[in-house]
Amino acid sequence: MIATALHRALADPGPPALRPLPPRAVELLLTLDAPPRLGAHLRAVHDVAARLLDWLRPAYPRLDVDHDAVLFGAATHDIGKTIHPEELSGPGSRHEPAGRELLLRHGVPAELARFAASHAGWDRPAMSTEELLVSLADKILKGRREPGLETLVVGRLAVAGNEQPWEAFMRLDDVLDGIGAEADARLAFQARYPTG
Ligand SMILES: [Fe+2]
Repeated sequence: MIATALHRALADPGPPALRPLPPRAVELLLTLDAPPRLGAHLRAVHDVAARLLDWLRPAYPRLDVDHDAVLFGAATHDIGKTIHPEELSGPGSRHEPAGRELLLRHGVPAELARFAASHAGWDRPAMSTEELLVSLADKILKGRREPGLETLVVGRLAVAGNEQPWEAFMRLDDVLDGIGAEADARLAFQARYPTG
């Protein structure tokens, strides 16, 4: 098989070192012949989500969160940009409902397809902790801090950790600073791959 730019984006060992996507996400992206830039972006967001989960597991063992759902959501959240590739390099939200519909059409269960529609709407009511974490990973990827989103995450952490919100914020802030420090390397990784 000829290694296309998409194959390379999905297998690129870095730098920065990024974990491989879940096999089902890789299969979907290859089936859809996703733009290479999208593959690279999903690798980067998935890796940030994995790093957040690596921290959460021991730091907040009582936080009720489905790790596999977060990882799949991070790995597919922008998949609607295969239908609306202009939103890879410009603004737009048409990829959000389109992405959810696309995943459902490919047999992905609704609880895993929801991230494609919700990742930019973290201020909507009834966002699950899993959805907030995917939204957070999508921001921290580029070192962007989003106080409203972080406040929502801190609320979940403080309850799970039985601690004051400011304590949870201090811990989260350290982790986000650390992950955010590598934003330039992740953005450079994405930029190595074409949008079309
Ligand atoms: Fe994204």
